[in-house]
Amino acid sequence: MYTFYSRILVAYDGSELSKKALEMTKKLANQDEKIEIHVVSVVTPINAGAEFGIPYEHIRIEQQKKVQELLDDVKVSLEDLPNKKEIVMLKGRPAEMIVDYAKNRNTDLLVIGSRGLSTFKEIILGSVSHNVVQHAPCPVLVAK
Ligand SMILES: Nc1ncnc2c1ncn2[C@@H]1O[C@H](COP(=O)(O)OP(=O)(O)OP(=O)(O)O)[C@@H](O)[C@H]1O
Ligand SMILES: [Mg+2]
Repeated sequence: MYTFYSRILVAYDGSELSKKALEMTKKLANQDEKIEIHVVSVVTPINAGAEFGIPYEHIRIEQQKKVQELLDDVKVSLEDLPNKKEIVMLKGRPAEMIVDYAKNRNTDLLVIGSRGLSTFKEIILGSVSHNVVQHAPCPVLVAK
């Protein structure tokens, strides 16, 4: 089957809507095994002065461990697709890292949730999805 998109990037933070974004991507990729699936989850290092030392380092390691667990689950959920996959943890500001990844890897569709893990439900778009829609080099599919 002809499909327009050949390299899809999913921004994944483990939220319900990012899970929906992943499911939508699976359905698209299911149409053609030549479609590559890239999943990116960004860890934002907490800002702490060196004077706080070890406890913050500990939190940082915990953060990374949690994200790695999320990505391990993603890997399992994509196992039955024959498509090429890349599942990546990045460090930095989420929107910037997602947009940079899309630019560097020439992804031609970005799939993202409208909201993420925060709880201010009255806002239509979270700050990450807002910024990604604004700066992405390719079309963005927003799961809601
Ligand atoms: N750290 C992240 N790594 C990868 N994708 C992310 C990350 N944070 C958010 N996203 C993506 O962006 C979507 C929207 O999340 P966003 O963070 O913008 O909303 P929010 O958490 O509700 O609000 P905010 O973070 O602005 O308080 C998520 O469903 C997910 O697809
Ligand atoms: Mg968020």
